[in-house]
Amino acid sequence: MKVLVVGSGGREHTLVWKISQSRKVKEIHAAPGNAGICKGATCVSISPTDIEGLVQYAASNNIDLTVVGPEAPLAEGIVDRFEREGLRIFGPTKKAAEIESSKIFAKNLMKKYGIPTAEFEVFKDPEKAIDYVKEMGGPIVVKADGLAAGKGAIPCKNEWEAIRAIKKIMVDKAFGDAGKRIVVEEFMEGEEASILAFTDGENILPLEPSQDHKRAYDGDRGPNTGGMGAYSPAPVVDKVLQGTIFDEILAPAVRAMKEEGREYRGILYAGLMITKDGPKVVEFNCRFGDPETQAVLPRLMTDIIRPIEATIDGDLDKVKLRWRRSAAVCVVMASEGYPGKYQKGFPITGIEEAEAMGDLYVFHAGTKIDEKGDLVTAGGRVLGVTALGRDIPDAIKRAYEGVSKIHFEGAFYRRDIGYRALEHLGLKYPPVG
Ligand code: AMP
Ligand code: GLY
Repeated sequence: MKVLVVGSGGREHTLVWKISQSRKVKEIHAAPGNAGICKGATCVSISPTDIEGLVQYAASNNIDLTVVGPEAPLAEGIVDRFEREGLRIFGPTKKAAEIESSKIFAKNLMKKYGIPTAEFEVFKDPEKAIDYVKEMGGPIVVKADGLAAGKGAIPCKNEWEAIRAIKKIMVDKAFGDAGKRIVVEEFMEGEEASILAFTDGENILPLEPSQDHKRAYDGDRGPNTGGMGAYSPAPVVDKVLQGTIFDEILAPAVRAMKEEGREYRGILYAGLMITKDGPKVVEFNCRFGDPETQAVLPRLMTDIIRPIEATIDGDLDKVKLRWRRSAAVCVVMASEGYPGKYQKGFPITGIEEAEAMGDLYVFHAGTKIDEKGDLVTAGGRVLGVTALGRDIPDAIKRAYEGVSKIHFEGAFYRRDIGYRALEHLGLKYPPVG
């Protein structure tokens, strides 16, 4: 089988790595990929949103299966377009992907079907939104309706911050048309967790829970990023809670999408807040999470092509996932200045030394091979260093040992990935022993 992976981040490198272990897979292609992906796959420089280009490539190269990483092509209907051509593709249709691409759609769906989430109001007039936040006061969260590269949700401490956020989104149009309408919602207190699940529209097969670290700096301070690290399993989501999440969130969401005529096939990602009143949805995403995927897939023993094909064919009930008992911790190494301005083009060394540790994987995000043939930095998030360990503390130690072997100018990373997991285990950072 020939597989095409669409995207160029750490998530896609992890997918390429995992898919390449399948006995069914003979050849992997990636569009556009990065330096790490292109070591194990044939890369072609087609943008993930150039849907016509991708259709042509898949058809003329006899691609048997396309797996989409990022949300943008899903929101633009890549799945509908491939299916019209009779090409096999993994992911939700455009109408189903709206669960991520329109926060208003997702919030109204949750309200209608009783799926627990923050209380909210929708606005298209900034004046009315401002009146509302003045009445409600802080803390409160202001969100652009559409896709905004993970930056469209602005948690605000008080009404002044909220007014500024409303102006930024609706008047200054910081996220363009994505901010024509906004959601203003209740601020939820608690700990976040990510639950990803395969679903074929009927059956649901959850992956092991994980936790992302969205803020740039240690102690969850600083601006939101695409994610600075992740770990799995997430002790905040124990077996009982996994059951509750299945019954109260995943199952009703999949049923609701079907009832709305938007049958959902692909990965459904529930970003959750574990509040004192139980798990509530922060957001749904229509794809694998990044960096969560970098911590979850190394623990998966099952050939990933099995659930991917069963999702497309509608027989996910026949698949079971098997997991390693080990824990996995992924530390993202970024460029100094990220998520703001940063420089690129610095040589990267030490990856082989790190990988020689064994059970440690260096997934590439913003990397490329320069004119001289050297591996250099080419983006904000550069690498994800994932280590397996016998438990979370061991995986943390191994991940940072790997990180210490890798060098590039201005390398910047959090030094507390997994700290909440340690708190649940009654341990402090850094883990010793
Ligand atoms: P979103 O883009 O909706 O996933 O939001 C990005 C991040 O903002 C989340 O991962 C949370 O850390 C934070 N956030 C969003 N909505 C809320 C909320 N209602 N209460 C507390 N934090 C939130
Ligand atoms: N880790 C957050 C996301 O994938 O959206």
